Amino acid sequence: MAQRTQRPDVIIIGAGIIGLSVAWQACRRGLAVTVLERGEAGRGTSHVAAGMLAPVAEAEFGEDGRRLLELGLRSADLWPAFAAELQAAAGVEVGLMRTGTLLVARDEDEARELDRQAAFRDSLGLATSRLRPSEAREREPALAPTMRLALEASDDHSVDPRMVLAALRQACLQAGVELRERTPVLRLALDAAGRQLAGVELQGADGSRRSLAAPRAVIAAGAWSGQLDGLPAAARVPVRPVKGQILRLRDPSGPGLLRRVVRFGGGYLVPRADGSYVLGATVEERGFELRPAVGGTYELLRDAHETVPGVSELEIEELCVGLRPGTPDNVPVIGHGSLEGLIWATGHHRNGILLAPLTAALVVEMLAGEGPVDPLLPACSPRRFTAAAARPGSGQPVAAQAGRS
Ligand code: GLY
Repeated sequence: MAQRTQRPDVIIIGAGIIGLSVAWQACRRGLAVTVLERGEAGRGTSHVAAGMLAPVAEAEFGEDGRRLLELGLRSADLWPAFAAELQAAAGVEVGLMRTGTLLVARDEDEARELDRQAAFRDSLGLATSRLRPSEAREREPALAPTMRLALEASDDHSVDPRMVLAALRQACLQAGVELRERTPVLRLALDAAGRQLAGVELQGADGSRRSLAAPRAVIAAGAWSGQLDGLPAAARVPVRPVKGQILRLRDPSGPGLLRRVVRFGGGYLVPRADGSYVLGATVEERGFELRPAVGGTYELLRDAHETVPGVSELEIEELCVGLRPGTPDNVPVIGHGSLEGLIWATGHHRNGILLAPLTAALVVEMLAGEGPVDPLLPACSPRRFTAAAARPGSGQPVAAQAGRS
């Protein structure tokens, strides 16, 4: 017979940046929150992430790109206060570095493309400045003298996700979140009609199968979010893993090689205050494969070295692989799907760290049942992917459903 523990107001499945951000904010709003994490909190994709807060540098063409940009700009605005509150609550730093970003073109072809990217950002009213090589090298003397053009996005910053996750874990525990690590969710439990969430079945520390009842749950399980058992097929949201290989480098002579984030064709270098650098990242559609491979790593190191020759003096501390959660349009899923009581907060693809404060705010508004529907939510609705959404006359319009609690 399954054992029951105390009933929380909300179960959060997954203790990465999204799950813990939601948990912390929901607990501060007075909800009893239990977080279930199959491994260790913050040791999945969030542990691999570089931590760029870069909606301007990452702006993409097309309608989905425009939706992502709106989300990214909103969340970037929330980051300074989120970081300050988190630091105050946890008593530890989160490594927010407000240094801006340089996008660098290494040859004529890349310079033409960067010009096109600059014009695109101008057309959207995004603040960037074109820099001649001499101007770019005044700002970052380590850039290769052969570089052709740079674009400065001075409002695109970075944060250290490992510091953020450590702080979130601490803040959650202090706020009263029940964090249960090494506790896999085996399946979602539904009511007899199969329309309403009733709780979850989980694997306890002793290996036994247990039930935990709750009226609501938030799926924040990253690339694994689409795989939870117990969901009717029509309520399932497709989330796929997108492999990223990433290196952590250290300058034995300390900080100073780069101050800003530097992005180049195929990668980026993100400096930390302590003289370490994150060099990322490959973007690979290889399912749940987690093996590091020579090809992708070689290309990252080659391109980084061509952009910043001093990279060859750095020590390699770590090579790691993460699985970003991608949806079919690579826009996140945030909101209610077609199962009552279940909220999705996943599919953040390359922007999980950037979008964490906004996602937490939106989900907590839904959980609290307060306020009007945020204008950004309809574009993130899980219903755009579920079978129920495709059936004519299957319920209210998406915009009316998105903000329900
Ligand atoms: N946000 C950077 C990446 O996914 O590589």
